[in-house]
Amino acid sequence: SKIIRDSYKELDISELPPGEVLQTSWNGELIFIRRLTPSEVQQHEAATPNQLLDNESKPFLSTATAGNSTMLVCSAVCTHLGCIPVPYLGAYKGWVCLCHGSVFDKYGRVRQGPALRNLPGINNTEYSGILCIEEMVFPNEPSLTYYFNEVEKGFWGFGVLGFWGFGEI
Ligand code: FES
Repeated sequence: SKIIRDSYKELDISELPPGEVLQTSWNGELIFIRRLTPSEVQQHEAATPNQLLDNESKPFLSTATAGNSTMLVCSAVCTHLGCIPVPYLGAYKGWVCLCHGSVFDKYGRVRQGPALRNLPGINNTEYSGILCIEEMVFPNEPSLTYYFNEVEKGFWGFGVLGFWGFGEI
């Protein structure tokens, strides 16, 4: 199928306590959802670029804050060789990947290798306790342009057939 199944997911996170992590699946892959407290957000925003191994990919925080907290959604697949990191461990109490020892902070940013890339962030928005997770881009889904082109072709085809039809009468 050209359309990715489950590329949009709603989740009731109203019961998820501040500071806690939830592991679930989305779009065929495991993901983490972490409810960050304001002090965790402050602490992690204070990190300077030279403390981070990957300064290119940015964490995806909810555009709306969930009560007095902020939601982070990221992939649960280690960017080294694909193990599932364990939450609440390590110097940053984010995640540690026990396979080879990569350390991630609570924003999913890698702080110690061998992984060199952050846990990829996933677009999300929070509406009164409901977290909506979706892709920003749908690479495999037919775009509107595709549909418009098809519709346009349909009109042209009908026009040509109509012309032939009338011509023969
Ligand atoms: Fe995570 Fe190697 S797979 S550190």
